[in-house]
Amino acid sequence: MSTNTRGGALIAALVLALAACRGEDKALAPAAGEANPWPQVAWPLAEDAALEQRITDLMATMTVEEKVGQLVQGDIASLTPEDVRKYRLGSILAGGNSDPGGRYDASPAQWLALADAFYEASMDTSQGGKAIPVIFGIDAVHGQSNIVGATLFPHNIGLGATRNPELLRRIGQITALETRATGMEWTFAPTVAVPQDDRWGRTYEGYSESPEVVARYAAAMVEGLQGKVGTPEFLDGRHVIASVKHFLGDGGTTNGKDQGDTGIGEAELVRLHAAGYPPAIAAGAQTAMASFNSVNGQKMHGHKAYLTDALKGRMNFGGFVVGDWNGHGQVQGCTNTDCPATINAGLDMAMASDSWKGFYETTLAAVKAGTISQARLDDAVRRILRVKFRLGLFEAGKPSARAVGGQFALLGAPEHRAVARQAVRQSLVLLKNAGGVLPLQPRQRILVAGDGANDVGKQAGGWTLNWQGTGTTRKDFPNADSIYEGIAQQAKAAGGEAILAVDGTYTQKPDVAVVVFGENPYAEFQGDLQTLLYKPGDDSDLQLIKRLKADGIPVVAVFLSGRPLWVNREINAADAFVAAWLPGSEGAGIADVLLRKADGSVQYDFTGKLSFSWPRTATQYANNVGQPGYDPLFPFGHGLSYADQGELAVLPEDSGVTGDEGAPGVFFARGDTGAGMTLRLEAGDGQGVSVTQVPHALNGDLLRVAGVDHLAQEDARRFTWSGKGEAVVALQSHTALDLQRESNGDVMLLTTLRVDAAPSGEAWLSVGCGTGCAARVPLAPTLAQLPAGQWTRVGVPLKCLAQAGADVARLDRPWSIGTAGSMTISVSRVMLGALNEAEATVACPDA
Ligand code: BGC
Ligand code: BGC
Repeated sequence: MSTNTRGGALIAALVLALAACRGEDKALAPAAGEANPWPQVAWPLAEDAALEQRITDLMATMTVEEKVGQLVQGDIASLTPEDVRKYRLGSILAGGNSDPGGRYDASPAQWLALADAFYEASMDTSQGGKAIPVIFGIDAVHGQSNIVGATLFPHNIGLGATRNPELLRRIGQITALETRATGMEWTFAPTVAVPQDDRWGRTYEGYSESPEVVARYAAAMVEGLQGKVGTPEFLDGRHVIASVKHFLGDGGTTNGKDQGDTGIGEAELVRLHAAGYPPAIAAGAQTAMASFNSVNGQKMHGHKAYLTDALKGRMNFGGFVVGDWNGHGQVQGCTNTDCPATINAGLDMAMASDSWKGFYETTLAAVKAGTISQARLDDAVRRILRVKFRLGLFEAGKPSARAVGGQFALLGAPEHRAVARQAVRQSLVLLKNAGGVLPLQPRQRILVAGDGANDVGKQAGGWTLNWQGTGTTRKDFPNADSIYEGIAQQAKAAGGEAILAVDGTYTQKPDVAVVVFGENPYAEFQGDLQTLLYKPGDDSDLQLIKRLKADGIPVVAVFLSGRPLWVNREINAADAFVAAWLPGSEGAGIADVLLRKADGSVQYDFTGKLSFSWPRTATQYANNVGQPGYDPLFPFGHGLSYADQGELAVLPEDSGVTGDEGAPGVFFARGDTGAGMTLRLEAGDGQGVSVTQVPHALNGDLLRVAGVDHLAQEDARRFTWSGKGEAVVALQSHTALDLQRESNGDVMLLTTLRVDAAPSGEAWLSVGCGTGCAARVPLAPTLAQLPAGQWTRVGVPLKCLAQAGADVARLDRPWSIGTAGSMTISVSRVMLGALNEAEATVACPDA
């Protein structure tokens, strides 16, 4: 029977009390006199006896194999409908880089056909088994953002600045409609993280550093996505199930390290990081996603006290808990393909993306061996089936036959885009407006400059058409306006003119310039930073602003970013400064606020308020509202309007950062090694030299290095192997690098290279991690296929190197290339990057 009723809560509380007496559950057993910090929440769905009976009847007919299948979710890049038919899996997902036919720009029709095929496989009983509809989850995290043509809302950080929960509800409704149109019934959203250190690469996925703001939004978004409990719209065909994530403490990791450890007292953990869960649960959120991070050293995927006792027990969460991408594999004693501990801790469905088959087999074995109890298995299955029944999936038919399935006109529909555009307008935060330069007259000559001016991919950020949101082009966004396009339309309509010049050059002097610049797209740990310096070592945007100012042109700076960054120099240089976050498809929302109407009156005033504090220096990482010693440059809640005095005294230009400012993940660039790395030339016997200058040679001419040009003078190195013996060129890291997260995801080791003379024999790319811990993959076949004399980015999936035996948790030699033959290659860059950034990919050797 359900444990989600009030009676259930009582029982849960009793069980807890008993456990506490036995001293089993320290985390949830407050010492005498201490209040339990976990709130009690009322699950809004009354127990439904008929529903429970249906589940009981169905489960009575299910084999243990079928039950285990329900617990497993595989990724569409790693399984076929045939696999679902055979293994009776409960769910599929499309990860950030997983698309029909492997095409990031697959059509909506292809997505829907894929959804139909998987659904039909799950309902096909011709080879035995019960018909239990599969549920299909996707990261519709700022609109149905994996699909070409969808409405792209601002990322959550921008929505935080709107302080408008009702708008969030509308956004949830639209996201649900567009998701259903393409065949999925589940989104992995909302993220209710409360990011505390803005270096975290997922800061933009959070609404705010303030738990109050996150709590106010959580219910509105869940209700928008799922419909309101108690109304006929709840979980109907126009809504999807939500997933509150990531439970728990994702925003509190030390140094903002993604998937790291959140060291925190329990009361603080609950007050800060759990704030979004009670309102989301009270709104009936059907799933919660376990987090990659650990809390006080214990990985959340194995944290029974929190997953089971706190979330399902004390907080009465009546949905099911899904894991994150192989997150179970990080639990102590587990691997991606074997982890009974996660199920025992309370995970109901594992996101065993590419590991589903092994995970299925070991879980089945664990049930048969009793390592996972029948009761735990049944509870997990019941929770999953309950959600499927509540969604009406058993009666729904295939995705294309449901309420809005195949209504592709919903994608980017004008009324949807209008809501997104409103969200953009309300998300903009004005930080400076010297001399009242804003709002601008539209009837003048406006120069629109900067590399964000006309780049929808850049303004949309990560989780857009692919995981990192990189490598897209204008045609991938049929229903969108770039920021320049928005300004141009309005200027033109008013008899003015907008001129696009990314580099800021012009022939006829403009009256004013709008410079749009900021962070390039990133997602998850790929966006983790060492400091809050904006673009370390590259001040081209500042120079652009200064150049225009020197020409006597007033400059309005529009800053695109996934977090507040230290940009004092840019703020000083510009007349006006707007924090625009990651606005999404509706770049025109910016013109709505920046430009006056043709008659000179204000169209829309600025109403956005900071939901994250803006740092005073680049080392003020974690200065959050309400903390002792709170001293930001612009406080939480700040944001000017047109009525305000917009002058700003000159800001100090000392960033506070000394020493290492290198970009993480770049091992070699501009002719130089990354921070903490040395370039080595070594012979087969391991003897070698460190390259401190070029040209340089090892053992006469065994292996030689010289400076060559790629994009700039001497920004690359040419290596020439003589063929007189084995030799390697390597990047040696002074401290061992932990690339476990990168190896779990689709991260590549990317080498930008040019083949000057193809290898005469075998050549390889390898990584090393101390004695007896190296892995190599053959490189010669790939190099042989590259056009000679042309620069190309060659990618080696880090997971291949892990499979080939490297301990990716401690790489001290993250890159090396060797051969015993003769060969000449030039290298200009070595870095970690995303799948779609490689032009040629080295295939994994068979495991
Ligand atoms: C992320 C989740 C996401 C999942 C599926 C994970 O790496 O942490 O937020 O929902 O992948 O793409
Ligand atoms: C997937 C993402 C996932 C990530 C986890 C990627 O390969 O596409 O969805 O979040 O791996 O590291």
